[in-house]
Amino acid sequence: MKKILSVTLIFSLILFLNTSCNKADSTSAVAGKTSISNAEIDKKVADLMAKMTLEEKVGQLTQYSGFGELTGPGASEDGNAKKIEKIKSGMVGSMLNVTSAVQTREFQELAVKNSRLGIPLIFGYDVIHGYKTMFPVPLGETASWDMEVLEAGARVAAKEATAFGLHWTFAPMVDLMRDARWGRVMEGSGEDTYLGTQAGLARIKGFQGDDLSSNLTIAACAKHFAGYGFAEAGRDYNTAEISEHTLRNVVLPPFKAAADAGVATFMNSFNDINGTPATASKYLQRDILKGEWNYDGMVISDWGSIVEMIDHGVARDHKHASELAIIAGSDMDMEGYCYEDYLVELVKEGKVEEKLIDDACHRVLVLKFKMGLFEDPYKYCSEERERNDVLTPENLAIARDAARKSIVLLKNENNILPIKETVKSIAIIGPFGDDKDSPLGNWRGQANPNSAVSLLEGVKNAVGKDVKVTYAKGVNATTGDRSFVMELTINNTDKSGIPEAVAAAKGVEVVLLAIGEDCYQTGEARSQVSISLSDPQQALLEAVYAVNKNVVVVLSNGRPLEINWMTENCPAILETWHLGSESGNGIADVLFGKYNPSGKLPMSFPRHVGQCPIYYNRKNTGRPADKRPVVFWSHYTDEENTPLYAFGHGLSYTTFEYKNLKLDKKSMATNETLTVSVDVTNIGNLDGNEVVQLYIRDLVASVTLPIKELKGFEKVMIKAGETKTVSFELTEAELGFYNAESKFGAEAGEFKIFVGGNSIDLVETGFELK
Ligand code: NOJ
Repeated sequence: MKKILSVTLIFSLILFLNTSCNKADSTSAVAGKTSISNAEIDKKVADLMAKMTLEEKVGQLTQYSGFGELTGPGASEDGNAKKIEKIKSGMVGSMLNVTSAVQTREFQELAVKNSRLGIPLIFGYDVIHGYKTMFPVPLGETASWDMEVLEAGARVAAKEATAFGLHWTFAPMVDLMRDARWGRVMEGSGEDTYLGTQAGLARIKGFQGDDLSSNLTIAACAKHFAGYGFAEAGRDYNTAEISEHTLRNVVLPPFKAAADAGVATFMNSFNDINGTPATASKYLQRDILKGEWNYDGMVISDWGSIVEMIDHGVARDHKHASELAIIAGSDMDMEGYCYEDYLVELVKEGKVEEKLIDDACHRVLVLKFKMGLFEDPYKYCSEERERNDVLTPENLAIARDAARKSIVLLKNENNILPIKETVKSIAIIGPFGDDKDSPLGNWRGQANPNSAVSLLEGVKNAVGKDVKVTYAKGVNATTGDRSFVMELTINNTDKSGIPEAVAAAKGVEVVLLAIGEDCYQTGEARSQVSISLSDPQQALLEAVYAVNKNVVVVLSNGRPLEINWMTENCPAILETWHLGSESGNGIADVLFGKYNPSGKLPMSFPRHVGQCPIYYNRKNTGRPADKRPVVFWSHYTDEENTPLYAFGHGLSYTTFEYKNLKLDKKSMATNETLTVSVDVTNIGNLDGNEVVQLYIRDLVASVTLPIKELKGFEKVMIKAGETKTVSFELTEAELGFYNAESKFGAEAGEFKIFVGGNSIDLVETGFELK
């Protein structure tokens, strides 16, 4: 359970403090349209800032968490009265974790009606994959490789969240990640820079739309800047060591694309990177982001990441931490209690230039003007929309579409799937078979608990009354309290329910084995050294398979898992992640062939956790596999180098054949465009969607480059028997890289081009860049 304090108590307190103070004259009502030019906004901000004291400017750089839900280490409850006083005196710029129209309105009134200048607050929240209607967790949704799906999901999330008074989401997370042990892989878009960039852009577009002043759109936040996904050994909050080469070529491109696309805000990160906490990194925030990339939006710290610099061992105390962070370019302090107490003093002592405060305050106020909050600070809070605009049939239909498109068919021997129309008996077995909560995923906004369609419900909805559907849980996936803030017990030992499950499996035509991970096994602070099934679940799998070979594994998880035994033995495996509100219906659509699966893995599944970090776009090394000089080559002596399931892998109920890979020229100059085309034929009997993937390899360059890099993809619907020609265009933007001097450009020489339906089975050709 999230930590909820008594709402009545809080608001009595608010009311008491509210009425016990005089309301000062407000100059907040800055007139004019919201769809005004940047120059006009700058003018309005300048006019307002001319009236502001240094203390009020610093106030705009402070963000407090609300009094109920916490998404980080808790602040003290007795600090709440102090928070209210600060809001009323204009010393707070923003709040997070305030999640209803009534509450956002109440807090907004405290700021607007009481503070000297009446500057409105901006309300932020982690709207990661939905607010009430839940979509697949971001890693799963990215498996759809369908950017329209991602955009639509973000649009619905924005529409729902804004009804509750929210202006700003802390999403998308565009961190690159290569290590399945890191719990936050569920929140990202996988291991590839190109796919991650496209996914980030689609989500930003969905959240922000074309007009930040619309009360149906929400400001987005590209996070965590930078290197958070490279936490050593996959342990959350851990140190990251990232070379300039990897930083520029792998980690930063999704952030740069987000900045170029106008993402409203950035969040920095908890980790230290190359010896400096990201929050204190002037190099990242001022030199690269605000300098090189000319980013004019606002940078917020992560929760307490300013104060945590004391524990990092670079700041002596809160004051020193504040100095480091503001100089580095962190504009707003999230629940860190640093800026509010020390920035004014630091300016007065000459340790921090006032122009840095002005710049940060300017960025915050620009955002508020862009949202139209000075015109109407309450325009986002709507109890009516809160009631009517959420969990609507339209939103749920979009969520169901996202769910089924995010499913990846990992294995399907002898076409056991789709389940035949003649089926008469199905047993659903396993801890997630009748689970209506875990499918909602971690980082679930304000989803109603236990509100997802379970697998059991989805299957029952899909089949007629004459199909016998039975259910047995078998084992628990985890024990202990399940919630965002609690530590789960993963290693339980109770196998007592297995005999009942085995009995249920005997003699039925198909067993659907719903196993994997609870949603609270992934997400923030959920790193694991093991990515195997828990021991009771593995025992259940083997016991059920022993009595019935027609086992379809319906895998729920937020990270790649080690699933060798199941792969060797079970005829079919469906990767279903945590699919959100419509989970069971989406899975049933695929199981019964109403939707032909089209998802592809955005992250490699290792054979063994010891391979992590494992990713397809690795370097060749000086001793690659094709040389194998006795033992002295780059390999493991006890396991293959290759993943169990590769990046881009995903089967369909039909088969696609790739032929006639063509280039419009055999050589090109750097200022030219190369057109690549390929014929893709559906040689099976069912219509289906295929994700056509294009990879390149630069054979000789001044720095080592990956053996393959995704540079384009397109999802196409191809009817049975039909051939479609799919074309891609390549320019220097795709062929280039950052060299040893951190200069971007393509180098002359030979390139290979590969096209196919995953990162392994590819047709290839080549060309020369002159
Ligand atoms: C910490 C997380 O790292 C960040 O992603 C999130 O937005 C904040 N907490 C606020 O909840």
